Amino acid sequence: MTQNERNEKIVAFIKDQFPEKNFISLHVPHFGGNEKKYLLDTIDSTFVSTAGAYLDKFEEAICHITGAKHAVALANGTNAIHMALLVCGAKPDDEVITQALTFVATCNAISHAGANPVFIDVDRDTMGMSPIALSRFLENHAEKRGDGFTYNKNTGRKIAICLPMHTFGSPMRIDEIAKICGNWNITLVEDAAESLGSFFNDQHTGTFGKAGAFSFNGNKTVTCGGGGALITDDGELAKRARHLATQAKVAHQWEFYHDETGYNYRMPNLNAALACAQLEQLSSFLENKRQLANRYQAFFEELEIPFHQELPGSSANHWLNAIILEDLEQRDAFLEFTNANGVMTRPIWQPMNKLPMFKDCQHDGLENSNWLADRVVNIPSSFRP
Ligand SMILES: Cc1ncc(COP(=O)(O)O)c(C=O)c1O
Repeated sequence: MTQNERNEKIVAFIKDQFPEKNFISLHVPHFGGNEKKYLLDTIDSTFVSTAGAYLDKFEEAICHITGAKHAVALANGTNAIHMALLVCGAKPDDEVITQALTFVATCNAISHAGANPVFIDVDRDTMGMSPIALSRFLENHAEKRGDGFTYNKNTGRKIAICLPMHTFGSPMRIDEIAKICGNWNITLVEDAAESLGSFFNDQHTGTFGKAGAFSFNGNKTVTCGGGGALITDDGELAKRARHLATQAKVAHQWEFYHDETGYNYRMPNLNAALACAQLEQLSSFLENKRQLANRYQAFFEELEIPFHQELPGSSANHWLNAIILEDLEQRDAFLEFTNANGVMTRPIWQPMNKLPMFKDCQHDGLENSNWLADRVVNIPSSFRP
C-alpha cells in the first residue's frame, strides 16, 4: 500500500465513524442533557456571576468524581494551575519541574507565578513525564540542603514544585513520580487539565499530590465554555485558593477590605450551570469515547500504525486519540492530506523549549519529546451521538 492509499483508507475510516458530518473536527462539545434548563434557571435567578447554587453543585460534583475532599471552581484551567502553584508555595525565582511536551498553558502558569520552568523528558508510551528522566535529572543536578528542601546545583534556585501533565487524558506513571517527589521533598501538583474521568490504579488523576488542576474549555471532554477547577485534600489550601481567587476580599456584610493582592479567578455561576449539566453525562461521554478509541486501536493495529494506548492498570478518558507516524515527512503529508479532505487532524505541541519565552530554560535533552513532536498526530475524537 502506498502512503497515499494508506492516508485515503484512514480518512474513509474516520468519515465512517462520524457519518453525519461534512467536516469532521478534532473535538466538538456535545450538549445532550440539562444544559439549556440549567442556563435558563441561572438567568432567571439573576445569579449569573461568581456566587450561586450551581457553583456549589459543581464543586460537590468534582469532589464526588475525583474523590478529592475540596474543589474550587475557577475561570479556566490556566488560572487553576496558577492558583495551585501559588497556594502550594511557588515563589518568584523558584523552579518548577515540568515536561516540555505539553500545552503552553502549563508553562505560562509557571511564569505567571514568577517561577522558572525546568523541562524533563516524557515516556514514549504515556507521553507524560518520565519518572526515570525525573530521577536522573535530580540525581545529576539537584541537592537537598539543610532546610530540607531541594535546590538546583546549577542555578542555586529552590526546586519548589513538580508539575507533570497527563497527556491527552492518558495517565502517566504518576505513582512513581509521586514517590520521587516525596523522596526529594518537592511538592507535586498535577496538570490534569485534559484528564477528567481518568484513573491510575483506581485513583483519579489530580489527586496524587498536594493539588490538581482541570480545564473545562470548549475542546475538553466536559465543557462549560471556559472553566477550571483546583482540587486538593487540604482544607486550608482550598480556603486560601478561594480567597485569593475572589480578590482576597475579607468576608463582611458591607466593607470592602482586601488583605493581599488577589485575583479575579472565580468561575461564574452561568458557566457552572453548564458544567453541572455536562458532568451529569460524564459516564456516557467516557463510554462513548472508549468505544471510539477501541475501534481506532483495532483499525490502526491492522495498518501497523502505533496508537496512543492507556497504561495497563489505568483507565484513560480518551479525550484525544493520537497516532504515531514514521517521521516528520510522513506526519506532514498526513496532516496535509487529512485537512484537505474534510478531516481535522493536528500535530502534538512543539516542545516548550522551542518557544521564544522558554528557549533558555534548563532541560535534560528531551530525546523522547523531540521524537514524539515529529511524529504524533491527533485524530477526531468527539462524542458520537
Ligand atoms: C495540558 C493543559 N494545561 C492547561 C490547559 C489550560 O486550560 P484552559 O484553556 O482552560 O485555560 C489546557 C487546555 O486548554 C491543557 O490542555
